[in-house]
Amino acid sequence: MQAIKPQVSLKELTTFKVDSNADGFLQLDSVDDIIECLSQIQQYDQRLVLGGGSNILMVGDYSGLILYPQLFGINLLDESDNDVLVAVAASENWHNWVLHSSQQGWHGLENLALIPGTVGAAPIQNIGAYGVEVEQFIDYVEYIDLDSGVQHLKKQRECEFAYRDSFFKKAGQGRYLVTQVVFRLLKQPQLNLTYQPLASYFEDKPSVNPADLIERVCEIRRSKLPDPELIPNAGSFFKNPVVAESVYEQLKQSHPDLVAYPVDEGFKLAAGWLIEKAGFKGVKEGDVGVHTQQALVLVNYGETDGRKIWQLAEKIQQSVLQQFGVVLEAEVRIEGRQA
Ligand code: EPU
Repeated sequence: MQAIKPQVSLKELTTFKVDSNADGFLQLDSVDDIIECLSQIQQYDQRLVLGGGSNILMVGDYSGLILYPQLFGINLLDESDNDVLVAVAASENWHNWVLHSSQQGWHGLENLALIPGTVGAAPIQNIGAYGVEVEQFIDYVEYIDLDSGVQHLKKQRECEFAYRDSFFKKAGQGRYLVTQVVFRLLKQPQLNLTYQPLASYFEDKPSVNPADLIERVCEIRRSKLPDPELIPNAGSFFKNPVVAESVYEQLKQSHPDLVAYPVDEGFKLAAGWLIEKAGFKGVKEGDVGVHTQQALVLVNYGETDGRKIWQLAEKIQQSVLQQFGVVLEAEVRIEGRQA
């Protein structure tokens, strides 16, 4: 069992790579470790479970306890003629798991290749890309309630999955620690090519196998999204806003080229389009900027103060609100705000 370390730098543990120190930092190497450390963990009012650090912006020091699980292992639990049930520990790397599952002949996750982060983080914000959301392939999630110390299991339908949202996300960070995600994957691939750029690419190809799809998804991501190893970033900075049909109709009249998709609640607008139209695509302010290929991604060219990134984000929010009357909500978690 490890001890709580004081004043640990989070810079290399988050993909935006800005300066931030945590008051306390605790690495947890097993579920038993977590249970044994509970009373120490509970002494902190403010807690944050850190996975791959790829969806977080630190805007200051963290005056609480960072929990850093290191839980590994992939286990086939059950198998039928059609599908497999596989348990994957929370700290496994997401992309490696996608590749591994496909190599084993377990299908469904191909469109989610190359998403940064860990398996444990995937259900929290219900990661999604190119027509697939992870909720479609989750059977249940195992987690520990850090307030009570009780280990729970939540079936897929109880996880309250929605666009970049879940029961775990709503509860706020530091309450629940996901230990393991159990996936139900298909033995016969049913490739999802609904995302238009995938459909058009594969249109004239006689057959598509899961490896081809993974390769194409990786190509698309590499062409649009900056590699966090080279240019620090946290993927989409904002969510695509959902507006009522009447709001969409009005916007469409004044902006006929508006990009939007119908959803149950109305229309989901392409935030990248709004930000580009507001004039921010490719801008650079000091050492922070908006990616040249995808306006939804903020990038760090060497800034060490996360507040500068947040300042640019706020400027974008204000400008989009002024020009389109639409509120952009951060998709990235903002942490380290001083009281
Ligand atoms: N667009 C622009 N300008 C831009 C960017 C986008 O006009 O600078 C328009 C284009 O018309 C484009 C459309 O917006 O066709 C949609 O863009 P894209 O396909 O790149 O997807 P997105 O809606 O911007 C979402 C996810 C991504 C995911 C892609 C692909 C969110 C917040 N983001 O982005 O997820 O990879 O779809 O499915 O939902 C992430 O969450 O970090 C992330 C990268």
